[in-house]
Amino acid sequence: MAYPGLQTFVCVLAFGGVYYVVKWLRRGPRLQGPPSKSFVFGHTKEMMGAPSPADLYDGWAQKYGSVFQVKGPMGSERIVLCDPKAIAHLFALDSWKYSHTPIAKMQLSSLTGPKSLLIILGEEHSRQRKILNPVFASAALKTYSSIMYDSGYKVVSAWGSQLQASGADEVIIDISEWINNVSFDVIGLAAFSHDFKSLDGEKSAVANALTALGHSRPSPNVMKILLLAQAYPILLKLPIPRSALVADLSNAMDEVVAGLTESAKSFESGDGPKSALGVLLNAKELTEAQIRVHAKSTLLAGFATTAGTLKWALVELSMHIEKQDRLRAELASFSTTDPSYDELTNGLPYLDSVIRETLRLHPVLGESTRVALEDDVLPLSKPVRTASGALIDRLPIRKGTVLTTSIHYTNLSKTVWGEDAAEFKPERWLNNSEGVPASAKEYPGFHHTLTFLEGPKMCLGKGFALAEMKIVLSLLIRMFMFSARDGKETKFEKAFFPGSASQGCG
Ligand code: HEM
Repeated sequence: MAYPGLQTFVCVLAFGGVYYVVKWLRRGPRLQGPPSKSFVFGHTKEMMGAPSPADLYDGWAQKYGSVFQVKGPMGSERIVLCDPKAIAHLFALDSWKYSHTPIAKMQLSSLTGPKSLLIILGEEHSRQRKILNPVFASAALKTYSSIMYDSGYKVVSAWGSQLQASGADEVIIDISEWINNVSFDVIGLAAFSHDFKSLDGEKSAVANALTALGHSRPSPNVMKILLLAQAYPILLKLPIPRSALVADLSNAMDEVVAGLTESAKSFESGDGPKSALGVLLNAKELTEAQIRVHAKSTLLAGFATTAGTLKWALVELSMHIEKQDRLRAELASFSTTDPSYDELTNGLPYLDSVIRETLRLHPVLGESTRVALEDDVLPLSKPVRTASGALIDRLPIRKGTVLTTSIHYTNLSKTVWGEDAAEFKPERWLNNSEGVPASAKEYPGFHHTLTFLEGPKMCLGKGFALAEMKIVLSLLIRMFMFSARDGKETKFEKAFFPGSASQGCG
């Protein structure tokens, strides 16, 4: 008893040793995987910096099998899933066995609070989603479509005036801010009965904060901190410039949302609810605090995502003039009237194909990483060889295992989509997707892409985003012809949005 400190130290060491031995004994079969050059960063730098993430994962999957192991920071490990059955199982069948990783939860929570729909799981998630579903259903989307057209026409009118004032038959326009503004005003009016008036030149603190965050390129040192935070999420608490921008965004959203519930109440009192927020307030199934959390999540999830995808659609059509002409030809019958919501949904196959192809080529999230909350077994569509040479057709997963699905791989890999995987070819979707190979059809998701993810946590605003993109894109294509400023040489940059793997068109 002379050295109580030493005794405690030995006990801690012994418990630690037992913990690691048990963990080691319980771990699943070792999978094959690429060797890592760095203990500190593992493969994270390669994964984040790859010029074509789809090719990187494709190469690994061909060499090591459709599920393989990579290193995360500080010697941590994660399993990469490229197998369609395993991915479907992860996201759909037993989804509540997996949750966002601690770092993703921390990032989302710092923006929307810990009770946001984006974070919660299980029964509470299903209950809240059921309440929210009607505000994103077709009947509601039909009502929002007039708001979407109104905002689209504001852009048409502003660009028309610029053209007229220039006295020429063409003018250079930076579409990025305009499209952000359309998306922001649409979400304000349709979701909250609130006119942010950004298309009328008003600046909103939320739009400013999101734009500042999107344009902030993390310095190499900050990037290293963000990568290491995957192993030690506490590092996100360091006072890096990015944290200040995230806090600005969260505060700006708080301020806006606090005002929204009040203005929605008075706006809606007229002749029945017109916005998502109004419907929720009327239904009285959620507390006002819960509604505010949802409003914040909707603002975050619905604005930059839709704007980014819409910008990519315009970029692709500007770089592929013949496809732009084909789309304009399909829309030619709408010279004096606008397509109705039903026509947009079912009657314009090329428009639909352009949107699907843009979503496939430019997913907002590059990857989705989940952690197992309990032991599980993942089914595989093809057997893989483990590191010890055994062939397995089911992969045991231990609680705590980190699993990554590369959305770039599932949407864009040559193995899945064929040699033309990286090309913008809306035609592949025509005639009942006859140009989509059988290998791609094995994958779950929105037309076999994971851009909106899959399963119970699939994007709630998918229909809203599709309606907005179709309305605004069809209107702009009917009214204008687009070409990229420097032709085929034009460079486009991806902005860095909240959530380390999120990218939008900047
Ligand atoms: C092209 C546009 C969009 C894309 C690509 C997109 C993509 C996604 C993705 C990938 C997720 C899953 C995130 C995760 O669990 O890690 C998600 C969730 C969500 N999205 Fe979207 N989104 C888009 C537009 C919208 C819009 C317009 C809204 C609302 C108006 C919206 C509302 C939501 C909500 C509320 C969730 C959380 C769903 C849940 O956890 O149950 N999104 N979205």
